[in-house]
Amino acid sequence: MLKTLTPEMRTVHTVEALRRIVRGWKQDGLTVGLVPTMGALHDGHLSLVRAALRTMDRVIVSIFVNPMQFDNPSDLGTYPRTEDEDSQMLAEAGTHLLYAPTATEMYPPGFSTSISVGSVAEGLCGAHRPGHFDGVATVVCKLFLQSQADAAFFGEKDFQQIHVVRRMATDLDIPIRLVACPTRREEDGLAMSSRNRRLTGTGDRDRAGALPAALTDAAREIASGRPVGTVLAATRARLLKAGFAEIEYLELRRDADLAPLSERDGQPARLLAAGRVGTVRLIDNVPVDGPSGLDDRTA
Ligand code: PAF
Repeated sequence: MLKTLTPEMRTVHTVEALRRIVRGWKQDGLTVGLVPTMGALHDGHLSLVRAALRTMDRVIVSIFVNPMQFDNPSDLGTYPRTEDEDSQMLAEAGTHLLYAPTATEMYPPGFSTSISVGSVAEGLCGAHRPGHFDGVATVVCKLFLQSQADAAFFGEKDFQQIHVVRRMATDLDIPIRLVACPTRREEDGLAMSSRNRRLTGTGDRDRAGALPAALTDAAREIASGRPVGTVLAATRARLLKAGFAEIEYLELRRDADLAPLSERDGQPARLLAAGRVGTVRLIDNVPVDGPSGLDDRTA
């Protein structure tokens, strides 16, 4: 029987090696897609790889646990690292190139530049994780410039992150197309996340499943005309009753620019939340009033 041969995935750790390979691809007229990750891969990441493979000739996945975006050193210390499994999964998925720079490759001695994005980075996660989006914008800008990719693929679970990255790429004239891909979910609706593997306390995994259920119900109620404030208060109470230790935020925002909404304004909106189950921080979001305007947008 004939087997389909997948070309072997290459792994590089330096900007120079990455650029050399990408230069060759571009000379051959091939399009290049980038999937930026911090590793600890799951099917959510692989769905981004699959989306990239559908439209791009060559796909790079970057794995870099970016110290600059962690506001809390213990969160950085406990962030799951599963390099061997990640590499295996990416090779099986058909990734062409794994780019895994070291911290000194990304931030050599003397590095002192930070990109700070304005209003879309404020509020929501930006209010609760000081400096987080500066770290994200800076590393993603570097990844875009290092890889010279034509398109980059991000998951909608990190909805505010997509807005921040899009603003950064637009404002800095980086010629890259941003593709927002739908959130991959577990059977009970929990958004796939590298942090889910830390839901190890008794009952924590079940408690976490309350978040997507509560958000989906709340979005439906808001869309049907119930006052936003009433729905948000009831949803908060429901999540705390379900065992969430804390709700960091639960807010309705305009989908297109993340402007805060106290009532629907007829345009597509998003309900976004972050909360803690035990010590694990979870985020999620769902559309209200129609699909996202973020899909397949050019920066
Ligand atoms: O979403 C992530 O995993 C990270 O924030 C990213 C985009 C890879 C930047 O470090």
